[in-house]
Amino acid sequence: MSKNFYITTPIYYINDIPHIGHTCTTVAADILARLHRQNNESVFFLTGTDEHGQKVAECAEKEGLEPQVYCDRIVPKFIEAWKSLNISNDFFIRTTDPKHEAVVNSLLTKIYEKGDVYKSKYEGWYCVGCEKFLTETDLVDGHCPLHPPEKTVKKSEENWFFKLSKYVPQIIEIIEKDNYIFPIGKRAEVIAKLKGGVTDISLSRENVSWGIPLPWDKSQTAYVWFDALINYYSATQFVESKSEFWPADLHLLGKEILWFHTVIWQAMLLSAEIKLPKKTFTHSFYMVDGQKMSKSLGNVISPQQLVNQFGVDGTRYLIARSFPSENDSDVGIGRFAERYNADLANNFGNLVSRLCKLGEGLTIDKEEMVISDEFTKLIDTLKFDEAISVVFENFVDKSNNRLNEVAPWKLEAADPLRVNILTECIKNLRTAAFHLACIMPETCKTVETVLTGEIKPLVSPLFPRVEVKEIPINVLTGKIISGKVANIEKLADLSIQLITVNVGAKELKIVCGDNSLKIGQIVPVALPGAKVKDKNGGEIKIKKGKVHGVVSEGMLCSSLEFGTGSDNSHIQILDEKTEIGSELTISAP
Ligand code: MSP
Repeated sequence: MSKNFYITTPIYYINDIPHIGHTCTTVAADILARLHRQNNESVFFLTGTDEHGQKVAECAEKEGLEPQVYCDRIVPKFIEAWKSLNISNDFFIRTTDPKHEAVVNSLLTKIYEKGDVYKSKYEGWYCVGCEKFLTETDLVDGHCPLHPPEKTVKKSEENWFFKLSKYVPQIIEIIEKDNYIFPIGKRAEVIAKLKGGVTDISLSRENVSWGIPLPWDKSQTAYVWFDALINYYSATQFVESKSEFWPADLHLLGKEILWFHTVIWQAMLLSAEIKLPKKTFTHSFYMVDGQKMSKSLGNVISPQQLVNQFGVDGTRYLIARSFPSENDSDVGIGRFAERYNADLANNFGNLVSRLCKLGEGLTIDKEEMVISDEFTKLIDTLKFDEAISVVFENFVDKSNNRLNEVAPWKLEAADPLRVNILTECIKNLRTAAFHLACIMPETCKTVETVLTGEIKPLVSPLFPRVEVKEIPINVLTGKIISGKVANIEKLADLSIQLITVNVGAKELKIVCGDNSLKIGQIVPVALPGAKVKDKNGGEIKIKKGKVHGVVSEGMLCSSLEFGTGSDNSHIQILDEKTEIGSELTISAP
């Protein structure tokens, strides 16, 4: 029987659409899932969305929507994003699924029956951004360091508390004996905090109705983390034939949620007498051009933006190369483009195309290949950059050097030296593709097809070079945001059309004259009140008003600064917090 491998990503909050931070954990999990499948293991790969709690409820209210309606609008954006990146998750869990809720009920009931809960008053700080109760020592300048100050609020509420402190000695013992915390540096951090004194924590919320009511006290809902963490276990209980996958082999997560995944989750499971996950891996963060990624800075990179610019496999490769495994990793569109051109367009892609041309007429049969232990080990420890380097050095660079050394293009087609060198390089490239398939699945399939049996020509280059130009635009005052064209309606007898643009969960109706727009295209929209520069440098004030009798709720910037009809998907995601007068840049392909 094949070995089981169960891997998870955090389930993402849906207060926002997916960005490169969510993308990196999901792509990383996908790389591991694919490699373990390639190594003949039986894999269960789970991702999903965290839909309850105060933060989501507040977002829904802001949009004027019922929370469930709001969730149902946003969740498809995550599902689409993962599809567009060829993510091979076996299941997508939503915490609003009644099947998940049933498992939460039964697990919390076990904790209750164990006598591990009691009612008490919580007096202190809460960060709505993290959905986290904060201690004084968590605060920096009086607020949570990860979110804007207004997200940190003082709370005084009657809650059910979980006896976290009861499990501290047992957790310390387990970590010291069978460490499940990786990278190893994180272990010391957790142990120090455990030994520094741990207090019990709230398990429920008093005034947050958007959540799962407690089975023993329906006037309170489960604190969102006590609902969300259970997803990892609940999926194995209600998704068909997955029960044997518990305990999970690996939880992947970002550093800000280390404590929840390495202490609170373990204490909940110990209390409910359920086996503990075998391993957690905590990665660091992406910074964008030296700054923390944030909507207010307008530097959020979306997966769509990357896929449009670098293709699916190009994006997956760039994420793997820059993955913030141990330390924060500084990325940016410009840097991504340089890396893409150097590694994929000029090196890997170019070599495959050279070999296809030079190898015309040759037949090189398929042979058994195995993934090297060194590569598997590097991927398993999330050292993607090193894993890729090993493959490039051993197979790609080596082949390039051999070709340049021998110059087979100067030799006759039947010359044995030419045949030998080409056979050697083609086999090397097939081996490289076999290893890199977990990172670039479609490209590697193509490489295998064209370089196996009779060598075939490439229909188009694997990785066309990209050019990145930075175009500054000046937001004079007011609001510019970006959204996705969801519908285009031609207005009879007029050369204008009414387009529907999705901005988060909101829909804007905009009249525009650009008839080359496509559904799915990302467009910048100036909202009423904004002043923007027109083509001649003059100012235009955007007003909500009727154009030919049709109400327009904003103006498409593409008809101002960007030229019409171009693919604007590379525009930064800006939101209403974009600072007035700030110089914003968009990168044009
Ligand atoms: N809903 C909780 C997780 C519950 S899991 C039981 C949550 N969601 S989140 O939407 O905020 O996503 C957090 C995860 O997104 C991080 O752990 C990390 O995986 C990823 N990242 C968010 N920003 C990131 C960066 N800037 N860089 C890298 N990853 C980051 O927390």
